[in-house]
Amino acid sequence: MISAVKFDPVLLAIETSCDETAVAILRGNQLLASEVASQTEHELYGGVVPEVASRNHLLHAPRLLASAADKAGIALEEVDAFAATSGPGLASSLMIGASMAKGLALGFAKPYLAINHLEGHLLSPFFTGNFAIEPNASLIVSGGHTLLVEVRALGRYRILGRTVDDAAGEAFDKVAKMLGLGYPGGPEIEAHALSGDAACFDFPRSMLDSGDHNFSFSGLKTAVRYRLADLIPITDEVRDDLCASFQRAAVEVLVAKTLRAAHACGAKLVTVSGGVSCNRELRTALREGCDRAGARLLTAVPELCTDNAAMIAFAAMLRFTAGFASDVTEEIDPNLVLA
Ligand code: KG4
Ligand code: ZN
Repeated sequence: MISAVKFDPVLLAIETSCDETAVAILRGNQLLASEVASQTEHELYGGVVPEVASRNHLLHAPRLLASAADKAGIALEEVDAFAATSGPGLASSLMIGASMAKGLALGFAKPYLAINHLEGHLLSPFFTGNFAIEPNASLIVSGGHTLLVEVRALGRYRILGRTVDDAAGEAFDKVAKMLGLGYPGGPEIEAHALSGDAACFDFPRSMLDSGDHNFSFSGLKTAVRYRLADLIPITDEVRDDLCASFQRAAVEVLVAKTLRAAHACGAKLVTVSGGVSCNRELRTALREGCDRAGARLLTAVPELCTDNAAMIAFAAMLRFTAGFASDVTEEIDPNLVLA
């Protein structure tokens, strides 16, 4: 066990790094409120439009702030520190949440904490029990990121590997789109894969034996595109087989490389976070792999896997109680790295 925290401060966190607007209030280890507004209009454009996202954040954030305070039964004067995601993400989105949290911190003369979105994901599996952060090998797997990180303690991270092209979630989203399924694509693919045959199509397991801890998902996505072109018009059965075979290929690579990374850094604990970690095939395969390797697996509850402010509040709580605070002049950084 490396760090433990005391449990009474009240933290309010705002997350607006991409297209989810979220506000959460945490008192010690008790999540008092976690509000999330997702934006669906980006589906029309085939990707997140920064201008649309930031306008929506402006629209939703004040409303979510009020409803979070209401649900938590907390007056803003009672908040001990305000936090926001400061990167990585879309500049015009990050700016909204960070400006709001800074304004609240200044207005109520309370500390401000700038939180790295990736740290929020990475710590989210620990948002149970006694908040102790144990050393672990961490897979962050979302729509924007696919990263393997050696976690030594709070704030002590070493990047082991990352995707060299698409994030895993991005591949799920793009393949779903090709197959005429909705957005976000991950849950759609997972649902259709249930009735498909994962052995039907032999898709590539890219970079499985690359000798490093990096990933690539662009080749897998292209392989599905080419296979699909030969099969059009597809039946429901073929679509389900494509989903199952694609998902199996993605999961096999994620699991094999995570276990190898854990072995390389001698980690006896594996954690997984980010939107794609909702995927049940991934969770089951990781659990089985960890069992075989004699390691423990810690996952976040599904509500904490996709973007939310509770994970930002949790990271802020750990930092705040460890004595950290940020300067309100600290700028957002769309390319913020985990260090
Ligand atoms: O963590 P998140 O909300 O946002 C980023 O930080 O990117 O992750 C969203 C991603 C989307 O690509 C979505 O398709 C994927 O997570 N996702 C899933 C599942 N649920 C969400 N991917 C596979 N299986 C799922 N069940
Ligand atoms: Zn995220």
